[in-house]
Amino acid sequence: MTQGKKVFDDQGGGTCHGEAAVGTAIAPMLVCVVKKPGADNVAEVIHNPPSAISKAGMPSFNLPQAQMKALMAYLASLY
Ligand code: HEM
Repeated sequence: MTQGKKVFDDQGGGTCHGEAAVGTAIAPMLVCVVKKPGADNVAEVIHNPPSAISKAGMPSFNLPQAQMKALMAYLASLY
């Protein structure tokens, strides 16, 4: 398991976004989320979700830089 996947699972990402972030009834798929237009702020969305996203249930994560880097590498590996 990559460090990024461990961070994702440890933070409950799999619980809401599903195993390998394929999406659930609770939260959207994150596959290709880093390839979407405007994806350069995905780390910011995870750290400080905009109100619409946080109102929908997305928590904010204050991860150490190394963990955020590993998490972003994991999300980039999902396609
Ligand atoms: C490390 C763990 C997580 C990561 C990396 C993550 C990442 C993201 C990202 C990037 C988005 C925006 C998706 C988009 O723009 O298409 C999002 C949305 C969302 N997340 Fe998470 N998430 C995590 C954990 C969670 C958890 C634990 C929950 C539930 C408690 C959750 C619930 C949601 C919901 C409901 C949305 C959609 C908001 C809307 O309707 O737009 N997420 N998440």
